Amino acid sequence: MPEALTKTFYIKTMGCQMNVYDSDYLAQRLMAMGMSPVDRPAKADFVLINTCTVRAKPEHKAATFIGRISQLKKHKPHLILGVIGCLAQHKGEELLKRFPAIDFAAGPREIEKIAELVQSGALGKRKILATSLDQPPPSLGIYNGYYKGKVTGFITIMQGCNNFCSYCIVPYVRGREVSRPPQDVIEEAKALIDQGIRDITLLGQNVNSYRWEEGGEIWTFPMLLKKVAGLPGLWRLRFTTSHPKDLSQELIDCFGELDNLCPHIHLPFQAGSDEVLKRMNRGYTRKQYMDLIQKLRLVRPEIAITSDVMVGFPGETRQDFEMTLDLIKLIEFDGLFSFKYSDRRGTLAARFEDKVPEQEKSERLQLLQTIQKDITIKKNKSLEGKEVEVLIEGPSARGKQLSGRTGTNKIVNFNCDSSMIGRLVNVYIKVAYASSLIGELREPLIESQ
Ligand code: SAH
Ligand code: SF4
Ligand code: F3S
Repeated sequence: MPEALTKTFYIKTMGCQMNVYDSDYLAQRLMAMGMSPVDRPAKADFVLINTCTVRAKPEHKAATFIGRISQLKKHKPHLILGVIGCLAQHKGEELLKRFPAIDFAAGPREIEKIAELVQSGALGKRKILATSLDQPPPSLGIYNGYYKGKVTGFITIMQGCNNFCSYCIVPYVRGREVSRPPQDVIEEAKALIDQGIRDITLLGQNVNSYRWEEGGEIWTFPMLLKKVAGLPGLWRLRFTTSHPKDLSQELIDCFGELDNLCPHIHLPFQAGSDEVLKRMNRGYTRKQYMDLIQKLRLVRPEIAITSDVMVGFPGETRQDFEMTLDLIKLIEFDGLFSFKYSDRRGTLAARFEDKVPEQEKSERLQLLQTIQKDITIKKNKSLEGKEVEVLIEGPSARGKQLSGRTGTNKIVNFNCDSSMIGRLVNVYIKVAYASSLIGELREPLIESQ
């Protein structure tokens, strides 16, 4: 790509935290090549859209955005437009045909190639489709200063999935499980901490499957977790996502042993009926899931538990659905991401015949969300009148206050000077809502960094 034409770039990120990590990786690569980020696509010579395809909704959102950006190219013919991420992997060829403005489509395992393509000058000359799943995740020396001013950061430690839950597209778009060398993860964590990051989340489709073998030594996820937790200057450590079928006692015990491992776990259960779990190919029963929750609460009583659930999986009867509602009421999750089952082309469940009608799915979802909302509010209300530890991350969503999170991952907004961003403080909770808590600053806990 001729240098004069590609000075500025804009990356739009959709989907999960791993896409955020990938976009940050690419941004740092492009900056290291001398390009500069801009805050609007209209200002950029190079626009990358990092997409998700886990359900129909994010797929439609991505297509709408691609359509909008395609319009830009009418006024700016030299604009290079790339669609990357999981939808590019899943439907790259179709996208290139449907949107002639797209110059290239590249899957999530090809992010290193994108940087190479930029350097080689190949972009914009011909259409490119890059969807190999063979490459391991790349590692990079962090672009100096990229994370300056930020308090939280992600590190992908493994990607891909071998579980093949019958509804899920992820194993097809992220490929088979592959772990990064522990030394790379540790170096990256140190570099983030050096730039001021205090709260790190280790990412993987299934972090429990992390495994690295070298010189007769085997690294498991709990080993890596302990090593990262021990790094000086790291106040908070989190991880996501872990799969209930592989949640070992050793990992559960980490919640009791590691002071800076936050008391929060995201543990998707998907369905409350054994029959549905079996057809989802999840590899655990309702009872096993409930037992895990009990063990976690035993080791760390204040642990917040969040989860993912879907309604209307093919063949889900009213009775099955009632089992899901029952589990939600029994466990009382702190928060729940709930979805209507959505067919993904190429998955096993897409071929199941006993589909639940759309209207029925919508009704089930609405009922489930109403029940969960009351639970979330009840849990949050229990914090009213108490003091909680908050790491201040930045301005609140509405911009008027500062915002941070508790170790249990609850958002707290309160009045405070912006010079306090990055500090750990005590906040008195005045009012609790379903999605955030309103508080009052009490005192800084750590005076200097
Ligand atoms: N690796 C994670 C899940 C990643 S996908 C895990 O194993 O838990 C995030 C969530 O999207 C899933 O937990 C599931 O609830 C939902 N999901 C995935 N495929 C779906 C589909 N076809 N229809 C509806 N929801 C889906
Ligand atoms: Fe998808 Fe299941 Fe793998 Fe999670 S564990 S990414 S839901 S196949
Ligand atoms: Fe979506 Fe890919 Fe993440 S499909 S949820 S962006 S792994």
